[in-house]
Parts: sequence; C-alpha cells; structure tokens
Amino acid sequence: MTVTGDKLPRMPFPRFGVLDIAPLSRTLQVTAPITPVRTPAGDVAWLVTGYSEVKALLADARLGRSHPDPQRAARFSASAILGGPSGDSTTEAADHAMMRRLLTPAFSARRMRVLRAHVTELVETLLDQLAGQGSPADLHEALSFPLPVQVICELLGVPYSDRDQFRIWSASAGNLSDREIATEGLKQLVDYMHELITHKRSHPGQDVISDLIAAQAAFRYGDEGIAGLAAALLFAGHETTVTRIDYGTLLLLTNPDQYDALRQQPDLVESAVEEILRMAAPGGGGLPRYAKDDIDLAGVTIRAGDAVLLNGVVANRDPATFTDPDRFDVTRVPNPHLSFGYGPRFCIGASLARVELHAVFTALPRRFPHLQLAVPLAKLQLRTDTFIGGFTALPVTW
Ligand code: HEM
Repeated sequence: MTVTGDKLPRMPFPRFGVLDIAPLSRTLQVTAPITPVRTPAGDVAWLVTGYSEVKALLADARLGRSHPDPQRAARFSASAILGGPSGDSTTEAADHAMMRRLLTPAFSARRMRVLRAHVTELVETLLDQLAGQGSPADLHEALSFPLPVQVICELLGVPYSDRDQFRIWSASAGNLSDREIATEGLKQLVDYMHELITHKRSHPGQDVISDLIAAQAAFRYGDEGIAGLAAALLFAGHETTVTRIDYGTLLLLTNPDQYDALRQQPDLVESAVEEILRMAAPGGGGLPRYAKDDIDLAGVTIRAGDAVLLNGVVANRDPATFTDPDRFDVTRVPNPHLSFGYGPRFCIGASLARVELHAVFTALPRRFPHLQLAVPLAKLQLRTDTFIGGFTALPVTW
C-alpha cells in the first residue's frame, strides 16, 4: 500500500478503561470502517472496524494468512504468532483445508457435550478451593487460569504439571515488542511438543495428540507439522478462554443487576455467555490477513499484498448491528458477535470454550452471590506486552 506522509493513526489506540473500546476505533468505525493505520510494528495496514466489513472480509477467499514475499510483507507486531505472514502462499488454501479436516473431529460439538459433566466437576472443585482459601482472593489464579489449562491439557494429553513452563513460553511467543523473545518462546513450545510426540508414539493415550500421531501418515503430516499444531492448540486453547472468564466476571461484577439476574435465572447463562464473548475487549489490533487480489469495499481498494487487520472486538460494538452496543445485557438475543471469527477460519475450539464458560457462569453466581471486585476498576490493568492481552490478576471479595 502506498501512503504519503506519516499522519496515520498509530496502534495500539489509547483506551479510557479495560471495559471500553478505544474512542478512536469508534470514530473510525463511523467515518472510515476500512482505513490505513500504522501497526505496532511501524508498518502500514488496513484497519477494518465496521461489522459488515469485518464479516464480509472474514468470509472472503481473497484474503489469507500468507504473503508471496514474506520478507517484504508489512508486519503487525513482533509476535511469533500472527505477528506477520505465515504459511506458503501457493498452498495455503489446501494446507488450511487439511488442517481443519485433521482437527475438527477432535473438537466436535458432540465430543464437547460429552466433556460437559467433567468440566462442571472441575469448576466445582476449583470453586471449593476458592471458598476454602477465603476472601479476598485472586480469581484469575484460582479459576480463570487453571480451568482452561487443565481442560486443554487433558484433551491434548499434555501433563498439567508442566504448566509453569509452557505458561512462560506461550506468553513469550505472543510478546508484541521483542521478536527474539517471541521466536524463542515459540521454539521452546514447539520443542516441548516434539518431545511429547516422541514419548506418545510409544505410549499412546486417549488424547488429541495421540489421535494426530495416528492420523499423521494419512494426512502426510511430518512431526514438525504435528508439533506446530499441538503448540498452536495449547496456546489457542488456554490464553483466549482464560481472558474471557476474567472478562465475564468483571462485566458481571461491574453490572450487579446483570449478576443478580443471572443468579435468579440460571437459564440466562446461554445468552449471558454470548454477551460476555461480544463485550470482552482484551486488546490486540484484530485478526491479521494479507490480500491475494485487489478488493473493492466500502469505498476503498485494498491492493494485492496489503496487510489487513479485521477487528472483531470493535465490530462487536457496531451500533448499526447492535442496539445500545456498549450496554452489557445478559438477555441480548440475537447476538451475532464475531468473537470466534467467521467463515473458513471460524474457531475450532468454540464449542469447548462455550462448555467452559457455561460451566463457570452457571456456578459462580450460585456459589458466590455476594462476589465483588476487591479493587477499584481503574486499578485493573490489561497486559499490553502480549497479543492476547488480558489480566494478570482479578482480586475479588465475597
Ligand atoms: C473464548 C475463547 C476463544 C476465543 C474468543 C477464540 C477466538 C478465535 C478466533 C477469533 C479465531 C479465528 C481466527 C482467524 O480468523 O484468523 C479462532 C480460531 C481458532 N481457534 Fe479459537 N478461540 C477461543 C478458544 C479456542 C479453544 C478453546 C481452542 C481449542 C483448542 C481454539 C482453537 C482455535 C483454532 C485451532 C483456530 C484456527 C482455526 C483456523 O485457522 O481455521 N480456540 N479462535
């Protein structure tokens, strides 16, 4: 993309608070839903903030993750995960289709329904421990982090006892400012998976990594490919859900009438979880893509090779789609949010994440009806150093 001068808005845009989207994103959504910006890496990309534009581009096969000339492609950040182009531009569509065929059965809605009772038990145990520990406590450490990590470890067949190690590696892999730290973090995560694969080849279990090894030959995947997939699943499977549990709790505690409504009518949990997914605003600039062809949309032309950031968090607050978009309403239906993406890359773990979120937000109001934040909202800070964002702590009392 050719841009003259350097008047472009630079990301990340400042926000007033952890529950708000950046005022500049809102202005752009209304005035220029597809607009050039400077990314945190200092390069130029199109930022897309309008709901209909984000949705249309998520479904558009003319956008992908790869770039024909990766060295010259604009970068989004230093992160080793989604910070720049990935994959081979000549085989991306076929590679992606194969990856989905390989992974989708492992995370089918049916398999996740079977998992529901177990996840409910895990939540009850973690809440017993939280109650036993006494008020005040850090809900992030007591619930938001251990639940998704335990679940994804069990599903993948990764020892939960190794969590302190891969917690550090995955935070490093998502580091936004230091490419060396990010690359090293990802390498350690993938190396760890290599060792695990070697072990599981002779000691297979009832888990996704063992299933991937068994399917490896049929799909012509090398160990490198399986290790990369397993590392991506471990990363995607916990960082995102952890943040949504923190955000959901925070949204409910800062809207006590909504917390009460959910406590009194537990069957609101389905719509409450969708509303939490819609409103969670953990940061990050959006889903990265590169145009394969010229695309005309909303009065602009995105040129082949241009970098594009599809910002679902801002799109989820588009007043053209959502009435009173900044209001947190646990009864909101319909709620066509884009939090799991849309189209060919729709989140493979969406059913799993929903099972976990339903279990948490069914049990929490019942077990802790008087739950409150233990610190003023303004004291809560989002991590800005990793691309997943999210909180390091969520102090609560009851
Ligand atoms: C609330 C939690 C979660 C959120 C908000 C979330 C969000 C997303 C989004 C927005 C995408 C689309 C990426 C894109 O279009 O570029 C995605 C893809 C993906 N997610 Fe999730 N996710 C969550 C949980 C999970 C879990 C638990 C897993 C399971 C291990 C998972 C695995 C994946 C995978 C493998 C993809 C890649 C799909 C593809 O490229 O075709 N996610 N997720």
